[in-house]
Amino acid sequence: MNYAFAERVSQMESSVIREILKVTERPEVISFAGGLPAPELFPLKEIKAAFCHVLESGDPSVLQYSTTEGFLPLREYIASKMREKGSEAGPDNILVTNGSQQALDLLAKLFINPGDVVLVERPSYLGAIQTFRSYQARFISVPADNEGIDVEAMESAIKKQRPKLVYLTPTFKNPTGVTMSLERRWAVADLLGKYKVPLIEDDPYGELRYRGEPLPPVKSFDGSGRVIYLSTFSKTIAPGLRLGWIVADRALIRKLVLAKQGTDLHTGTLVQWAVQSYLENSDVSGHVRAIRKEYGRRRDIMLEEMEKNFPHDISWTRPDGGMFLWVTMPEHFDTVQLLGRAIEEKVAYVPGAPFYPDRDGLNTMRLNFSNSTPGQIKNGIQRLARLFSSCLNDTGIN
Ligand SMILES: Cc1ncc(COP(=O)(O)O)c(C=O)c1O
Repeated sequence: MNYAFAERVSQMESSVIREILKVTERPEVISFAGGLPAPELFPLKEIKAAFCHVLESGDPSVLQYSTTEGFLPLREYIASKMREKGSEAGPDNILVTNGSQQALDLLAKLFINPGDVVLVERPSYLGAIQTFRSYQARFISVPADNEGIDVEAMESAIKKQRPKLVYLTPTFKNPTGVTMSLERRWAVADLLGKYKVPLIEDDPYGELRYRGEPLPPVKSFDGSGRVIYLSTFSKTIAPGLRLGWIVADRALIRKLVLAKQGTDLHTGTLVQWAVQSYLENSDVSGHVRAIRKEYGRRRDIMLEEMEKNFPHDISWTRPDGGMFLWVTMPEHFDTVQLLGRAIEEKVAYVPGAPFYPDRDGLNTMRLNFSNSTPGQIKNGIQRLARLFSSCLNDTGIN
């Protein structure tokens, strides 16, 4: 059937990640490809108790339609956490969403006309690129190093291209794991005020720190009120809940409410009540500590194994938190082509190119360390190391 789709549909591409995940569902493949948390760490018992608690309360409102903004006690909890991070937020500054991904979609729906420019760092979260692209955004991408986005390059790109929005993941970025330095956070916040451009600060991984001291979000330096902060319970509790939030000034929250009404009226009442009950009645900080400890251990094992086995011409990031690290192969390598051979060797990664809006970064790849056991990490890295060594031998590089 030939459907007469809207023009923007031509921009919607199937995600490489989703396609790869299909292949890596085979149990013999060790997959560093997905971005999944470790399911054995989900607080299954506590979440079950929380759902039972709210259903047994006898209050039928738990199954009723509710407000688009989100469950007030949950928004109060989120606002108090934001204040602990140095950002002056109250419940009226919060919109509860179906995960951060919905937040990105709602923001794109509000801001992006076809052809509008979005400034992103290189590389950037694939899911955000896809969403902005589906609203027919154009991209300017600015280089980033081990301290985050290059602020000078960002300023000159803003001057030249006047972007409608900036999108950054300053802490433990997906895909590289890199964190923006404190100085650059200040500098970025200054630029937003100077050029009157809004920033979407996407922060799903901030709580997952394994080393070093926490850094305040850019939102906490937001003198001009231009930072739209996103976070989620996907990485600290469970992604299947589909629960995230937006923090922004009230005028923007009111517009977002209108946008969300057209999408889904509101986020599920039951899940919001249950998560709020879980947050109130369980040892959430103990749970997050346990995740940090285990993911930190997995990251260490992956890094150690790479150090021992990877050939010299390959470099990689050493993130202080999050779920990913980023590998850079010698210039001429094409990690999309190499993936087929990796899967034959029963190990998978995500090629780096889709994380660049201009499909650059052909010699890069993302590895996830949260979703494999220590034994799988060791075996998987050894398989990758053998593959890389044989490819480098084939090309005469060592
Ligand atoms: C940077 C970034 N933003 C947003 C999301 C979407 O998260 P959620 O599960 O809250 O929709 C992800 C998920 O991996 C992510 O890495």
